[in-house]
Amino acid sequence: MAAGATATSFSEGTLLCAREITKSFGGLTAVKAVSFEVHEGDIKAIIGPNGAGKTTLYDLLTGIYRPDSGAIYFGGKDIVGLPPHRITAMGIARTFQTVRLFPEMTVAENVMVGMHHRTRAGFTTCALKLPLSRREEAWMKEEALATLDIVGLEMQGDSLAGSLPFGQQRLLELARALATKPRLLLLDEPASGLNAYETRELGDIIYRVRDMGITVVLVEHDMGLVMRVSEKVLVLDYGETIAEGTPEEIRSDPRVIEAYLGSEVD
Ligand SMILES: Nc1ncnc2c1ncn2[C@@H]1O[C@H](COP(=O)(O)OP(=O)(O)OP(=O)(O)O)[C@@H](O)[C@H]1O
Ligand SMILES: [Mg+2]
Repeated sequence: MAAGATATSFSEGTLLCAREITKSFGGLTAVKAVSFEVHEGDIKAIIGPNGAGKTTLYDLLTGIYRPDSGAIYFGGKDIVGLPPHRITAMGIARTFQTVRLFPEMTVAENVMVGMHHRTRAGFTTCALKLPLSRREEAWMKEEALATLDIVGLEMQGDSLAGSLPFGQQRLLELARALATKPRLLLLDEPASGLNAYETRELGDIIYRVRDMGITVVLVEHDMGLVMRVSEKVLVLDYGETIAEGTPEEIRSDPRVIEAYLGSEVD
């Protein structure tokens, strides 16, 4: 068996598989025996009230935290214990609930940061501030602009990231995640702070990304967006899975309605 391969079997088309993963902080169990699968080509939503464990789940999938127990397989390989940059290089990218950009760098440069692990020179050049070859620099700029085009920011490549309106900063973060050329994109509340028009646009971008062959997982409170774009929804409450199904099934699930006190899922 090749290094990193496992004897575990997966159903056809499974890209990500979490089995019984648990993470506690002191006495608080933020994620409790959560299991789910994401299939190649899915747009899957993860919803749940504040503090349900959604962001912690992403932190576990991306190697920021190691689960106390349970297994995570990506592309059939066990990824528990791998550092975040290895997981990124394997093809999982994410955005953050709070925008994390380099405001003093240009929009294009922010995207190039996401590309570094794909350049020949890679991190070493970056860390030692060695000059890139002109060919490599030109290639990176071209790639960055092509990536910005996906989110509609190709005209703003030379603007300072910090000067963009908030909605566009969110899109820039998405572009930076795409620059790692992921197989799986994890979005953490991408519509938070966006107006209705921007949220609709974001929905179109999510479809576009999926049509490029990238599988998408979406943590989101905006139920309009969740119901519109996702094919499957996983619902967490107090760290536990309380429901999983199609948006229609979730909407009428009594446990989900109870968790939201009937307010947000209406
Ligand atoms: N580093 C940490 N140390 C201690 N407790 C934490 C830590 N990170 C998260 N928690 C706790 O774990 C629980 C789950 O938090 P998490 O941020 O994952 O929820 P969430 O579903 O993303 O919520 P929101 O919708 O508000 O973003 C919360 O009770 C939170 O306070
Ligand atoms: Mg969160």
